Amino acid sequence: MEKKTPDLIKETGLQRKSDVIVIGAGAAGMMAAIRAGKRGRSVLVLDHARAPGEKIRISGGGRCNFTNIHAGPKNFLSANPHFCKSALARFTPADFIAMVERHRIAWHEKTLGQLFCDDSAKDIIRMLLDEMRAVGAVLQLGTDISAVERLETGFRVSTGDGVYEAASVIVATGGKSIPKMGATGFAYRLAEQFGLAVLETRPALVPLTLDPGLLASIAPLAGISAPAEIRHGKTAFREALLFTHRGLSGPAILQISSYWREGDEIVLAIEPDIDIAAQLKRAKQLNGRQSAQTALGEILPKRLAQFLVEREKISGNMADLADKALLRLAASAQNFAVKPSGSEGYRTAEVTLGGIDTAALDSRSMEAKGVPGLYFIGECVDVTGWLGGYNFQWAWASGFAAGECA
Ligand code: FDA
Repeated sequence: MEKKTPDLIKETGLQRKSDVIVIGAGAAGMMAAIRAGKRGRSVLVLDHARAPGEKIRISGGGRCNFTNIHAGPKNFLSANPHFCKSALARFTPADFIAMVERHRIAWHEKTLGQLFCDDSAKDIIRMLLDEMRAVGAVLQLGTDISAVERLETGFRVSTGDGVYEAASVIVATGGKSIPKMGATGFAYRLAEQFGLAVLETRPALVPLTLDPGLLASIAPLAGISAPAEIRHGKTAFREALLFTHRGLSGPAILQISSYWREGDEIVLAIEPDIDIAAQLKRAKQLNGRQSAQTALGEILPKRLAQFLVEREKISGNMADLADKALLRLAASAQNFAVKPSGSEGYRTAEVTLGGIDTAALDSRSMEAKGVPGLYFIGECVDVTGWLGGYNFQWAWASGFAAGECA
């Protein structure tokens, strides 16, 4: 399927024509190509990368968390929280699971409704390529796009390999996260070229960094992971928290990073299912000669217990400590306010928050309201999922919606 003049594309001089051109062979673009191809449309998929679905390949630690069985509008951030409803309702996690099962890909639920491949994320890429092949969609890799212009009917796409024409163009070039993997701002620039608004973009599902003073103080905690509830205003996530040598990470932090803004405080509640204050009081009664550090070290990782005891300047035996001191120690673990200094940015962010304003798109088809035949899908649109398979579900659903209409 690589870099040849596609048989399906009619050659008329320099201008090769198809019904649909999809720009971007990622999750959303491949799904759109499959759906449009199934409807009998001739489809050409162009991508500047050397391989399709590179983000799928590295996703979910190489096993691709391909959907979440609980995915619904509440799991997405957008200036218009209603926009994603129509597409999500018309291509559901069950629809994607059915495709995965048709291709005999073994999968399992890890936690919180997150579905992963048993073997490899490459199985998902293979499945999508097989589906594309089955409907005659043609994939052309290593193709740089230099311009997209509107014609009287349809569009002209100029590339390093010549000029292509199509009645519809579906833009599926993703967001800005991980530029090292070929992420570009292409979709945003194209949207602006056609007069669509682009909302502020920022890295999301990203580790948070700390100022040097705080970082130095928590340096001994690097590598420690613990169950936690991380709160930002009224939003809270309960998953693992990881202290790193750059700051804070782990699923709970990545989730809250989509809500956090510079200058905001977040609150860490470590081991939220344990009443640490009650356990410390009980330890004082049962074993008063134990040190506070030892008692806390039976509840939390030992290095974390040591850090908290030192931070609260608590020393001596449990029997000598007032209940007030024990409450203070418990609060330091379960009401630990931190003001991150920033995030690790697009270098490590899993997704881009913000993007093409959904007000400019039809929520049923993803078509630009003022530009018939032009569609935007996937991560470039201002719809961003939580961590846990939601972003792929949006890619599949928005791709399906566009492929159904283009
Ligand atoms: P995507 O980025 O997948 O594809 C865009 C395509 O367009 C690429 O093939 C790219 O080469 C191409 N392109 C870009 N610019 C171009 C240009 N100028 N010209 C031509 N082609 C261009 N989500 C999830 O639900 N479960 C998970 O397990 C994970 N795990 C994960 C791990 C890591 C490390 C990252 C970075 C991200 C995830 N995600 C995730 C998020 C998920 O990968 C992301 O939401 C989807 O890949 C978005 O799909 P799109 O098709 O919109 O863009």
